[in-house]
Amino acid sequence: MLTHFEFEPDSLTLAWNDGRVTRLDVLWLQDHDPAGRHGNGQRLISVLDLDWQAGIRAVERQGDGLMIHLNTGRQLNYPLATLARDCQMTPEDDRCQSGKTLWCGNDFQLPVVGWQDYLSKDDSRRQALAAVADNGLVLLRGVPCKPGQVLEVIETFGFVRETNYGRLFDVQTVVSPSNLAFSNLGLGPHTDNPYRDPVPGVQLLHCLVNEVEGGENLLVDGFQAAARLQTEHPDAFELLTRVRLPYRFSDEQADLRSRVPFIETDDGGWVIKVRYNNRSIAPFMLPFEEQRAFYRAYRLWAEMLSAPELAITVRLEAGDCLVFDNTRVMHARTAFTDGGRRHLQGAYSDLDGLYSTLYLSGVKPC
Ligand SMILES: [Fe+2]
Repeated sequence: MLTHFEFEPDSLTLAWNDGRVTRLDVLWLQDHDPAGRHGNGQRLISVLDLDWQAGIRAVERQGDGLMIHLNTGRQLNYPLATLARDCQMTPEDDRCQSGKTLWCGNDFQLPVVGWQDYLSKDDSRRQALAAVADNGLVLLRGVPCKPGQVLEVIETFGFVRETNYGRLFDVQTVVSPSNLAFSNLGLGPHTDNPYRDPVPGVQLLHCLVNEVEGGENLLVDGFQAAARLQTEHPDAFELLTRVRLPYRFSDEQADLRSRVPFIETDDGGWVIKVRYNNRSIAPFMLPFEEQRAFYRAYRLWAEMLSAPELAITVRLEAGDCLVFDNTRVMHARTAFTDGGRRHLQGAYSDLDGLYSTLYLSGVKPC
């Protein structure tokens, strides 16, 4: 509730009953004028429409609103509820580490939701998608072991992100694989496809068959690893947010390139994306004076991601579908035996679609 206001020609100061005091430039007031928005919420004016000569001549309280008179003759009619809502500081975006629950292996219980519950109960679906937003991952159990089913899982919350691998990719042993993921070798902690721009935000791995020994998945909260690196080695953390490495994937059909840092932060210094994929880092060159410090930071990041206490181990069984935030959660795989079948189908989607479904289900953005 508004308790007091005062104005000068170039600004309006509002005092709220929760103790907040907000000062608004007359340009902000013109720009956020409720009359400048269509009923669908989209802006009808641009920054070029703002009058830089305009000043505030008078402000009067009218019931549940404020009428602001400009010296140009224009009036801005603000409902107080609109003012109170719009003059909050801009919230963090969906990706931001702030507000998420970071985890490490020892005390983390992997969120698990049954597929039938997910399909039939709004609460279960909300719980599953909220787990991806908050913890970065969820395991759906009992998903039918039907080739292509992974795409149907995506269609429950978003859209399939098709790539040069197709709409989905098969993870099973092949002769002369173009990508080590398609061998039976172990794979260290990594995020997928850092060479894409934008990188796929959501990855799914759906297990159709797993009869091998080994082949467990290790999962690491990359935001937790980044937070620890920041606390223990702030100089290394800073370097990894600043140095952009080139990534590349090429075969006969594709030549994909990007140039991005290991750790991305927002304007508040919060981590918003992490990546690590030693297989696809292209040759890079740094000034000589920075090379040693960079390799130290790079090594510390790799060590942090490989710390056993950070990882949880999951053995995917037939019918399990792991859904995870590919800009946060690192996945790794232990080697597996040559005999026996192991067949996973993977696919990508994007985080904005998942968050959109979550918000439409009634969950409020944090
Ligand atoms: Fe992968």
